[in-house]
Amino acid sequence: MGEEKQKTIVNSWNEWDPLKHIIVGKADNCMIPPLEPAVDAKVPLDSEMRRLAGTRRSQESVDRANTQLDNFCDTLRKRGIRVDRPAPLDFSQPVQTPDWKVECMFTCMPPRDILLTVGNEILEATMSYRCRWFDYLCYRDLLNKYFEEDPNMKWEAAPKPRLTDATYKPGYKERSRTEEDKLRLVAAKDFITTEVEPLFDAAEVMRCGKDLFVQHGMTANLKGIEWIRRHFPNHRVHAVNFPGDPYPIHIDATLVPLRPGLAMNNPYRALPEEQRQIFYKNDWEIVDAAKPAHDEPPPLCYSSVWLSMNVLIIDPRTVCVEASEVYQQEQLDKLGFEVIPVPFRDAYPFGGGLHCATADVYREGKCEDYFPKQIEGF
Ligand code: GLY
Repeated sequence: MGEEKQKTIVNSWNEWDPLKHIIVGKADNCMIPPLEPAVDAKVPLDSEMRRLAGTRRSQESVDRANTQLDNFCDTLRKRGIRVDRPAPLDFSQPVQTPDWKVECMFTCMPPRDILLTVGNEILEATMSYRCRWFDYLCYRDLLNKYFEEDPNMKWEAAPKPRLTDATYKPGYKERSRTEEDKLRLVAAKDFITTEVEPLFDAAEVMRCGKDLFVQHGMTANLKGIEWIRRHFPNHRVHAVNFPGDPYPIHIDATLVPLRPGLAMNNPYRALPEEQRQIFYKNDWEIVDAAKPAHDEPPPLCYSSVWLSMNVLIIDPRTVCVEASEVYQQEQLDKLGFEVIPVPFRDAYPFGGGLHCATADVYREGKCEDYFPKQIEGF
């Protein structure tokens, strides 16, 4: 069916069912984020982004990123997938609430960070960076349209956090001066945010039908995970964590389900043994993701080389992988997928990989139970 004739349906329960409609971000006006407390904890210690915090990215780099994003959209459209785009703001504007002010905003390249689609609901996440407080505005026209066109669509927004100084731990920066410090803190589940209010980015949630796995890390606190649990009472919500990641933010370069019964895990960020049991008990296999093809992320990128595993699944047999990530392509090919290579490294610095840069609107399929055997207390 042609894209223009497709009826609007909001429905997506997992990361692999046949994809019909998606949002792909834009790089326009993207800023290097200001070093507010939560950003400071995430930007790599040796990154040039620290010196350039709060400045514009070059127009030339924005154009290159947009060329790859547009090309990605064309690839999806050629497969009959409807693609929508957000409305970028002038992110160079300072923003404030009654509690705080920051010198600029950030980006609308990664819609996955803020929009969580669970069934017929699209939920705007709280977010935890001050510079991302207004991200939702970039998507409001689209969500309003889906709300008008699909009588079953549920449009929800999690409580906006206040993000006062009480939301961030004092002295965290001093306690995390080296990568070793960071790993020690992460292993102790000691993250930048406090528990004064619920916080989560949508990209911390891995959707597997009735089960939602949520990374407890830099952008989701335990109260945020509890909020998700109470908000989706028909789901089972599992908090997971990854001690090997010095910058734990967003689950989709760490643990990625590929199809029912198969997931890949970043070998440097292994899911702890006790948290794997639910997968094994339900006959899931967890394979180590292939090594990235690059030793370094591109310049001014706040993600790691593991965007290699940040793939977009089109259906249980077809997957989009970044074009230069030959090892990841080879692994998925051997696992039985048709691999669609998509050039995307120029877009990485603007907010992540192919999964980050998208948010599901419609995948065929319904809510299934892939983990009928549960583990008590998890
Ligand atoms: N959290 C995305 C990354 O690995 O950089």
